[in-house]
This record gives sequence, structure tokens and C-alpha cells, in this order.
Amino acid sequence: MNAVEKERYLREYYILKGQGKPFFPYAVLKDSVMACIVLLVIIVMSIVLGAELGPKADPTTTSYTPRPEWYFFFLFELLRVIKPPAIVFIATIGVPTICMVLLILLPFIDRNPERHPLRRPVATLAGITTICAMAFLTIEGAIAGAPGQLSSISVPTQYKKGAAVFAASGCQGCHRIGDDGNAGPGPNLTHIAATVPKPAIARTLVNPTAPMPSFARLQQQNPKQFNELVDFLGSLK
Ligand code: HEC
Repeated sequence: MNAVEKERYLREYYILKGQGKPFFPYAVLKDSVMACIVLLVIIVMSIVLGAELGPKADPTTTSYTPRPEWYFFFLFELLRVIKPPAIVFIATIGVPTICMVLLILLPFIDRNPERHPLRRPVATLAGITTICAMAFLTIEGAIAGAPGQLSSISVPTQYKKGAAVFAASGCQGCHRIGDDGNAGPGPNLTHIAATVPKPAIARTLVNPTAPMPSFARLQQQNPKQFNELVDFLGSLK
């Protein structure tokens, strides 16, 4: 801002200040009334509608698919698409933090007195790009399959049902197939059938070594699903 612009700004500011009303009590009163109305609406809604309580947390569940609230979908999606562990930290914590710090520093960096968006091409473009990027990531995150689904390998049609059983049984909490699931504590199952024959896979499911839980109950209660699961694993050569 040069001297002439500063002079003009101060003059405008002085005139506007003369026309306006003081912050106290006018704006304070308005804000207080609105705050009371909002509070009242919340109180009335909690009395009339009540607060919903979800089902009780079940620490033994194996089929729970964790998903964030919608406003964290963009971070969720970032975490989902960024695979190399070395850059996960910088991409999901580093970059958003740098953006936040830049946003806080913006008034100090950008001293441009212009207010019209078209006269501030860099700021306008940066803002639009950020909004678009976050909107895109939010939508991608919202339509992404649950983390339990197998999306990194193509499963032949006849094994799709078995893959669905695998995805729904919590196996990926401990095993990895392709790029899906955790790297441990269980071994990678991407090519399990190359080393372990199908009957041995079935035996492992029924009678595993700890910490792997037994899936004998699945075999008893739903032998069809159990066999589909074993067929699917038996196809991973
Ligand atoms: C709590 C973690 C955990 C869960 C959940 C789990 N596993 Fe395992 N799994 C393991 C571990 C650990 C081993 C290795 C055990 C061993 O070496 O004897 C293993 C071994 C296996 C093996 C044998 C691998 C080999 O190379 O011999 C197969 C097959 C297998 N799991 C399939 C499954 C399937 C299918 C599911 C889901 C229905 C599942 N696991 C769920 C932890 C788990």
C-alpha cells in the first residue's frame, strides 16, 4: 500500500466511522439476542426431539467399517489414495498444517488494498483451487467403498462372493491382499494359494494360531459362505 492509497483508505474509514454505530452496545446487543435464540432452539430441539444414542460399542466386532464424519472425508480420501507410508505423514498432516499456517499469515503476506476478487487474481485463484480440491476429495471420499472392500485387485466373477465374505469378516484388520488391508500382524494373503493349498487354508480358518480368531462358527452356521471364502482364497495364486 503506498502513501496515496493509505491516505485514501484512512479518509474513507473516517467517513464510514462517522456514519456507523458504535460496536458497544449495538452489535453486542444484536449478537447476544441471536446467541440466545440459537441456544433456545437447541434446548427446545433437545427436549422435543431428544438426542440419538447409537448402538453400544462392541469391542469384539470384526465387521465394523470405520468412516469419518463428512467434513473429514477430504482427509480420509487423502489417506486412502496415498499409499507410500513415507509420505503419508507429510501429505495428511504436513500439507494441511502448512495451508492453515499460510491462511493465518495471509493478512501479513498480502497487503494488497484491492478488494474486488478480479483485481486479486492470485488470491482468488488460490481460494478457488483450494475449494475445488477439497470438494473433489470430499466427494471422492464419500463415494469410496468402505475400507473393508477389496478394490486393488480384480476378482473373477465366480469368486466375487468369497471376496465379499472376506471383506465383511474383518480379515483385513490383520491381512493384506493387494493394496487393501493392514500389513500385519497376519501374513500377506495376495498369493496365499501359491504356498498354502485350499484344504490347509480351510484348516487355518477353523483352527488358527493366535492371535487369529477362529472362524469355525462361520463354517458351522454358514458353510456356503465359508466355502466361498475358501474358494476365493484358493484362487489367489
Ligand atoms: C486378529 C488378526 C487376524 C484376523 C482378524 C485374521 N487373521 Fe488370518 N492370520 C493372522 C495371523 C497372525 C496369522 C499367522 C498365524 C501363524 O503364523 O500361524 C494368520 C494366518 C492366516 C492364514 C495362513 C497363512 C499362511 O501363510 O499360512 C490364512 C489363510 C488366514 N490367516 C486367513 C484369514 C482370513 C480369511 C481371515 C478372515 C476371515 C483372517 N485370516 C483373519 C491374524 C489374523
